[in-house]
Amino acid sequence: QAPVITIDGPSGAGKGTVSQLVAEKLGWHLLDSGALYRLLALAASHHGIETDDVEALKVLAEHLDIQFQQTDSQEVEIVLEGEVVTQAIRTETIGNQASKLAAIPDVRDGLLLRQRAFVQTPGLVADGRDMGTVVFPDASIKVFLTASPEERAQRRLLQLEQKGDVVNFDELVKTIKERDERDANRPVAPLVPAVGALVIDSTDMAIEQVVDVIMTEAAK
Ligand code: CDP
Repeated sequence: QAPVITIDGPSGAGKGTVSQLVAEKLGWHLLDSGALYRLLALAASHHGIETDDVEALKVLAEHLDIQFQQTDSQEVEIVLEGEVVTQAIRTETIGNQASKLAAIPDVRDGLLLRQRAFVQTPGLVADGRDMGTVVFPDASIKVFLTASPEERAQRRLLQLEQKGDVVNFDELVKTIKERDERDANRPVAPLVPAVGALVIDSTDMAIEQVVDVIMTEAAK
């Protein structure tokens, strides 16, 4: 079985970028598990499946027709049922819907084996919320990447401003704190560091520094 590095943590801690850089440096595969929940949300909306139709959602999760295609420019194109949806899954609406579906145990079960199938030689970097706790409990390296709510709000603010959205900083901090509280205490896959996880607080760290810490760990 190929080795796995799991990188879990809350939104805005820098998981996505860090995971991508670590995977590139090692030449390993990458699993963006959040994208799977987003793809499921989009597919459910395409097929008119409601959030309370758990049986249909589970079947959809198990049979989701998706591809992650490497393009010439190093970018990964995400394809759902033959259609490129790389941008379409990144909206706030799909994110919120994904987070609702992610709270349903049968949905998480439906995606479990799909996620494990990403393990291929020479190795996998898995980015998510429960990669080290549930999906890959035997991972060789487990990272829990976090940052202060204020720092995560600041990063989010910059992203939103780039899109031309105006938001209130204090409101963002409040929302982030509430969501942390809910995520840590939810009954399925609560967001907590896996046993043995290396906890990295990226509040005062540059992305490259975080990547270095993980690369050093991987070289041991
Ligand atoms: O960008 P953001 O961190 O909000 O979300 P994402 O990583 O794209 O994942 C979308 C949603 O799926 C999250 O808000 C989580 O609720 C859920 N998720 C999860 O429950 N477990 C995972 N392993 C990954 C995502």
